[in-house]
Amino acid sequence: MDLKQHIRGVPDFPKPGILFYDISTLLRNGLAFRTAIHRLGRAIQPYAPTMLAGIESRGFLLAAPLAMELGLGFVMLRKRGKLPGETVGLDYALEYGTDRIEIQADAVRPGDRVVILDDLLATGGTMSAGIQLLRKVGAEVPAAAAMVELTFLGGRDRLGVPCEVLVSYD
Ligand code: PRP
Ligand code: MG
Repeated sequence: MDLKQHIRGVPDFPKPGILFYDISTLLRNGLAFRTAIHRLGRAIQPYAPTMLAGIESRGFLLAAPLAMELGLGFVMLRKRGKLPGETVGLDYALEYGTDRIEIQADAVRPGDRVVILDDLLATGGTMSAGIQLLRKVGAEVPAAAAMVELTFLGGRDRLGVPCEVLVSYD
């Protein structure tokens, strides 16, 4: 199956001149969604993860079903102020300003190998912050994975770990 056929490019969203790759159309198709999860599973299994992490919000849509399919635990990397209990956070730069993601301080155990998932790798700023945050709480991060990569933005060069992707645009 060609997953690209299920991803819609929406021009001028969220700003004029930006072509937004929308995975909503893929998620609406049960077979395409399941195929994407299976393929991500095959791609990340060689890294022998003990747990998966997803980045709010769209990363959750892939990481949670994939964790269930592989029989692994799932941990949420959330936007600021959403998680109860003791948390650890990391601020990272956006095009304008900064953002912050957080994790529960006890989310991983020493020695956990956590593969991090998001829907899309663009500049890599979000994924890179997620990797650093997981390391801050003691996880080993052998790899990242995303459904879509915007290759022309060079995000993977910022990660320092391999990134498995299903669909690339250049
Ligand atoms: C989008 C996308 C990735 C990130 C990629 O998330 O889902 O998480 O941007 O961009 P980057 O590689 O340049 O960091 P967004 O912040 O729009 O939020 P959402 O997932 O909650 O929709
Ligand atoms: Mg996102």
